[in-house]
Amino acid sequence: MSQFQAIDVAEYYDSNTFERIKSFAQDRPTPFVVIDTQIIAKQYDEMVTQFPYASVYYAVKANPAEEVLSLLRDKGANFDIASIYELDMVTDIGVTSDRVSYGNTIKKRIDVRAFYQRGVRMFASDSEADIRMLAEEAPGAKVYVRILTEATDTADWPLSRKFGCHNEMAYELLVLAKSLGLKPHGISFHVGSQQRDISAWDSAIGKVKGIFERLKNEHNIQLKMINLGGGFPANYIDKTNALATYAQQISGFLTAHFNDELPEIILEPGRSLLSNAGILVSEVVLISKKSYTATERWVFTDVGKFSGLIETMDEAIKFPIYTERKGALDKCVIAGPTCDSADIMYEHYRYGLPVDLAIGDRMYWLTAGAYTTTYSAVCFNGFPPLKDYYL
Ligand SMILES: Cc1ncc(COP(=O)(O)O)c(C=O)c1O
Repeated sequence: MSQFQAIDVAEYYDSNTFERIKSFAQDRPTPFVVIDTQIIAKQYDEMVTQFPYASVYYAVKANPAEEVLSLLRDKGANFDIASIYELDMVTDIGVTSDRVSYGNTIKKRIDVRAFYQRGVRMFASDSEADIRMLAEEAPGAKVYVRILTEATDTADWPLSRKFGCHNEMAYELLVLAKSLGLKPHGISFHVGSQQRDISAWDSAIGKVKGIFERLKNEHNIQLKMINLGGGFPANYIDKTNALATYAQQISGFLTAHFNDELPEIILEPGRSLLSNAGILVSEVVLISKKSYTATERWVFTDVGKFSGLIETMDEAIKFPIYTERKGALDKCVIAGPTCDSADIMYEHYRYGLPVDLAIGDRMYWLTAGAYTTTYSAVCFNGFPPLKDYYL
């Protein structure tokens, strides 16, 4: 048996969907992403079905295309916004400010002022300086404080070190918020994107419960909301549990910690709504070896770290790559087209591509609908940003 894993498209897309995307892609110059909006709609519906008690705030950073935002607007989603530019994107399509949360803990005073003037009343925070600034620029607004979480090593794309603060500090910040005239609203966390260990939510919810109780008992502050963040799964090479299992487990943790006094629950999915809906199509530019005796081929393609595949940094996200060749697989290093030696997607992971792969062949990067278009550089080596199409 081959030590390499052949990609079976049927594990990722039904055959009609894949054929539809492939025929759309056929004569278009690569590279580009094709996104099937029906899949986004299906995944959103599943999220709402699995978490019937929660409000969904779509993490706009995952893919802010108008086609995506308007679909989710019409489905009744709310929006997790990280900058004034993302706020423009959602308000330009008629989303009202009551459906927006400013979820970035790092924000300029001038932007907070603009958010407040435009009617946004819910803000994330994790530091004293930010809370004091919010009190001045967004008086009376709801504030939720983000806490640090563990389990970063079981997430493909950890997020917790840069954002959040220790429980004790979160508690103090919410007391401070109240004393400054803000509304201490709740606690948020993000257990890391593509979090494979569902129990990460259990320990985070346990910490949240502790803060809720202390604030109630010691300051008569009744928090009203928990923001469970993102971290829900997409379908990459290494399999995860299904969303239904995440939902069942997380609902159980909430009940175990809060009994039937469940506060308002917010989810902020990005990856899990968008990734499975997109296929990135690239072309093989060059296949070479580094010496006459080298055993591995280098496959250079026309998409790379600087044109949408930055999540291959440290080989964190392992996209399934499909090609039409059916032969045996052999070890490849897979790299992008730019003149930067960091532009190597997979070198250590034992990636196998067909031995008969040829220059000019297409490569289909499955599960590429999230965090690809937005991460694409505007002009490195003159290459234009990654193109995107919506079906
Ligand atoms: C504050 C916040 N919420 C939600 C998300 C989305 O997370 P995911 O893509 O894992 O669903 C992110 C991702 O960066 C985030 O920073």
